[in-house]
Amino acid sequence: MWKNKHITFFITGGIAVYKVVELIRTFQKAGAEIRVAMTKTAMQFVGKSTFQTISKHPVQTDLFDQTTSAAVAHVELADWTDLAIVAPATANIMSKMANGMADDFVSTTLLALSVPVIVVPAMNVHMWNNAATQRNIQTLRNDNIQVMDPDNGPLAEGYSGKGRFPSNDEIFNYIVEQTEDVDNSKLAKLRGKKVLITAGGTREYIDPVRYISNKSSGKMGYALAKVAQENGAVVTLISANVKLPIPAGIDVIQVETVEELAQAVQTQFVSTDVFIMAAAVSDYRPVHFVDHKIKKSADSANLTLELEETTDILKSLKSRRTKQIVVGFAAETNDLLNNAKKKLDSKGADIIVANDVSQSDIGFGSEDNAVTILQHNATNIKVAKANKQIIAKKVLEVIVKRLS
Ligand SMILES: Cc1cc2nc3c(=O)[nH]c(=O)nc-3n(C[C@H](O)[C@H](O)[C@H](O)COP(=O)(O)O)c2cc1C
Repeated sequence: MWKNKHITFFITGGIAVYKVVELIRTFQKAGAEIRVAMTKTAMQFVGKSTFQTISKHPVQTDLFDQTTSAAVAHVELADWTDLAIVAPATANIMSKMANGMADDFVSTTLLALSVPVIVVPAMNVHMWNNAATQRNIQTLRNDNIQVMDPDNGPLAEGYSGKGRFPSNDEIFNYIVEQTEDVDNSKLAKLRGKKVLITAGGTREYIDPVRYISNKSSGKMGYALAKVAQENGAVVTLISANVKLPIPAGIDVIQVETVEELAQAVQTQFVSTDVFIMAAAVSDYRPVHFVDHKIKKSADSANLTLELEETTDILKSLKSRRTKQIVVGFAAETNDLLNNAKKKLDSKGADIIVANDVSQSDIGFGSEDNAVTILQHNATNIKVAKANKQIIAKKVLEVIVKRLS
């Protein structure tokens, strides 16, 4: 998986800088091409010629240093990078990253990246435990940056505590786990399983030409359907107002409203092994449908629309479940994880896939997504920003683990 992959190490000023030499070697042996950027403080610990020699590339340390022919060196490096590893990461660089600061080569390049970033912190236990550091780590994690927990053990200061730079193997394995493209053999258990997926966004008509809807494009549901089908599942897709080409080998049921979608789900659910509710359905619909186009009124500038709740499809399946694995999506604009957790508890789902649809580069309509997968009594699984096909594979991998 590392063959010809471009990895940039961002090295900041902590005692553990010397350990990164070995770490870089490990990734090189695995086939990756490495470049290095260092802070001025990092160079107090190990000189840049060490990293220049092992990476066989100039080491960048200064925004205005002309070591490369690129017009804007930090953007050139950011664009070259497939994966960024900040190691060792000081409390200082995490604070800068959490706040979007860009005041030297390392922090500016980090801000210019649009690829996965892994942070491997190392510091004194009290610096680690400091409320500001913990706050910054939380912010980074919320921004889908993977922050590895340091080890507990003897520190440079002569006492023990959490903050040690983990071993080479631990870091390598962690990074492999966080970044691996899903091995399709992991999805082999899908072969012959019946998978029912909803996709798109429903429409609730106010009159014959107007409706209430949402921005869902259906791309996530279609990606799930395609990946499941490619791995041998028998897929039925209930598609609500999606403008994408119909994937080959998949049965598609076209619907428009929540009620139509609910009906189709009820019919298909009994015989399914996995049900994934990726469609964005309207929670409310107009109480009265007006059978002609509503005209502007001469009497009043306002028009009041009375709404009523629609069927809660996931909840309605609670009592009908036999063997099915039930997966819901939580598209939220605020308090993502708390809202997703509430959904997991109240809807009777096995898995909730939470995504923040307030960010324009992921979620509705975008090619990419970044999600957190929640399950009962399990650690949340964060999937960093990636193409929806990759996200689909990760979600299906979690589902497959539950298939008997
Ligand atoms: C001897 C020594 C060791 C240090 N070790 C660490 C460390 O392990 N982790 C850390 O966060 N800061 C450590 N610091 C503090 C950082 O070097 C300091 O916060 C610096 O401003 C970080 O700059 P940088 O993030 O730009 O590299 C150490 C400082 C000294 C003098």
